[in-house]
Amino acid sequence: MSPNTAIAETSSSHVAWLDRYYGAHRHIYDLTRRLFLLGRQRVLRRIRDERPASVLEVGCGTARNLAWLARRVAGAHLCGVDASREMLRNASKRPGLRLYHKCAEAIAGPAELGSPGGFEVVFFSYSLSMMPEWLGALEAARRCVVPGGVMHVVDFWDFGGWPGPLRGWLNRRLQSHHVHHEPGVLRWLRDAGASVTPVLGRWAYIARLQVGR
Ligand SMILES: C[S@@+](CC[C@H](N)C(=O)[O-])C[C@H]1O[C@@H](n2cnc3c(N)ncnc32)[C@H](O)[C@@H]1O
Repeated sequence: MSPNTAIAETSSSHVAWLDRYYGAHRHIYDLTRRLFLLGRQRVLRRIRDERPASVLEVGCGTARNLAWLARRVAGAHLCGVDASREMLRNASKRPGLRLYHKCAEAIAGPAELGSPGGFEVVFFSYSLSMMPEWLGALEAARRCVVPGGVMHVVDFWDFGGWPGPLRGWLNRRLQSHHVHHEPGVLRWLRDAGASVTPVLGRWAYIARLQVGR
């Protein structure tokens, strides 16, 4: 399905960088990232078990995650938003998804994503750490969750359980790919009431937030 394009960027240089980067990487993305995007499958299995009627992935990339859910959660309304047209070129080859070319922080509410009442599950998988406007993205995502629904985040943490030199090298590698762990993200999630689980010596974290009724 073709992505619905309604981007009104606040940060055009960020979007331009994403398209340059993913213009090349999108061809090998799904094959290579499974090795180090740890915890992603765990979150997908949790979402599958929650059997939601509607799911939004913010920063869906190639829509590999949404396609996985489409095969397992029959009849769910599955929607993805991404700022990169290049990634959405891959995503749009997958059937049955609603895709939007949009910056996360620019999502005004669920109505503009075809779900006026909101989504039962909203999730970020390794996308928040690439979003300079992470606070706006988190607030926009929370506005899209139905009362009583759930928000999940899985992303890189700070490698705090890894030996110093390796930790430094990993953080520098990620920064060179515009990936950055912002401690404020975890503060925001915890303040909102999320549970946070570390993965493999703080390689990653998984957060689950039940949004109030
Ligand atoms: C590392 S990929 C993760 C893709 C997918 N979620 C996964 O688990 O494979 C990060 C994605 O976030 C998107 N992204 C980065 N900044 C964004 C923003 N401000 N708004 C929406 N998407 C953004 C990128 O274009 C990219 O597709």
